[in-house]
Amino acid sequence: MVVASPNPIGSEKLRAVEVPIIDLSARGPKVAELIVKASQEYGFFKVINHGVAEDLIRKMEEESFNFFGKPASEKKKAGPAQPFGYGCKNIGFNGDMGEVEYLLFNTNPHCISQRSETISNDPTKFSSAMSGYIQAVTHLACEVLDLMAEGLWVHDTSVFSSLITHLDSDSVFRLNHYPPPLKDRDTSPSSSFQIHHQGNNIGFGEHSDPQILTILRSNDVGGLQICLGDGVWVPVPPDPTSFCVNVGDLLQAMTNGRFVSVRHRALTNSDKPRMSMAYFGAPPLHALITSPPEMVTPERPSLYRPFTWAEYKEITYSLRLGDSRLNLFKACPDKEAQE
Ligand code: OGA
Ligand code: NI
Repeated sequence: MVVASPNPIGSEKLRAVEVPIIDLSARGPKVAELIVKASQEYGFFKVINHGVAEDLIRKMEEESFNFFGKPASEKKKAGPAQPFGYGCKNIGFNGDMGEVEYLLFNTNPHCISQRSETISNDPTKFSSAMSGYIQAVTHLACEVLDLMAEGLWVHDTSVFSSLITHLDSDSVFRLNHYPPPLKDRDTSPSSSFQIHHQGNNIGFGEHSDPQILTILRSNDVGGLQICLGDGVWVPVPPDPTSFCVNVGDLLQAMTNGRFVSVRHRALTNSDKPRMSMAYFGAPPLHALITSPPEMVTPERPSLYRPFTWAEYKEITYSLRLGDSRLNLFKACPDKEAQE
């Protein structure tokens, strides 16, 4: 750990902290323990030797760059992004903005092939790259979730993963493209990305992911930062060979607050375009979100009331990107004041 330094965004502090790196080649009780520790302390870790074929990653990245390299007018044909499709700068429904353009998909194979029509000149190639990638990262997410359950001594080790493998799972996939700050880019009035000052810009503002688990991979360009409890931001060094895993709000609820849904953001601070691909594992809309019995004890009573993902999603959509939502689902709202 080094001394905190001023962050060009506002007056916040940055700190160089080594985020946990978990080697999945040695799956077993020790790895399960390390994953639980990282999820409790950071809500975030990187996985290496994850078993996702390089070829699948390369094909997906290639397809994404092909799409984002198209003229703005072409890309707009795949929009708007609410609920799914192409979005530029606008994030969500309530006026949040960032220096990002993105494609948002439901991971259902039927939705993917339908969407591909407006995205690629070769829709079959695009949807096959995406289905292959999604299948592989879903598998990875399940392995991680099973290890989490194991490390938490939850008897039913598929209690979390069965939600995201459910036929009606509401999982989503997002391709984020962060163009580099101006300089040698298109400055014509028709360009979507015009006025930037040099240096750090907010690409994707501070938030937590509402789902269960996020599996994120980026190219070799930095920008992702996670927020520690004390409000200090930690830059996550890019590593295209690893995946970043982060705990979502629902997993915080299902672990009865033992795991933390980490707040994070992405900055555009490089000369090179950044591309990230994020898979968000989510349950079916009507799944009831509760903690497995092992997570609730007399000393550790239920922190949150049971709720459905549909209910949670509705609240999330009604709030701003950076708003906290989980505290609206506390079992005893009165207790909040004492905490
Ligand atoms: C997201 C997100 C960060 C990134 O899409 O939810 O946090 O690095 N993205 O692109
Ligand atoms: Ni996120």
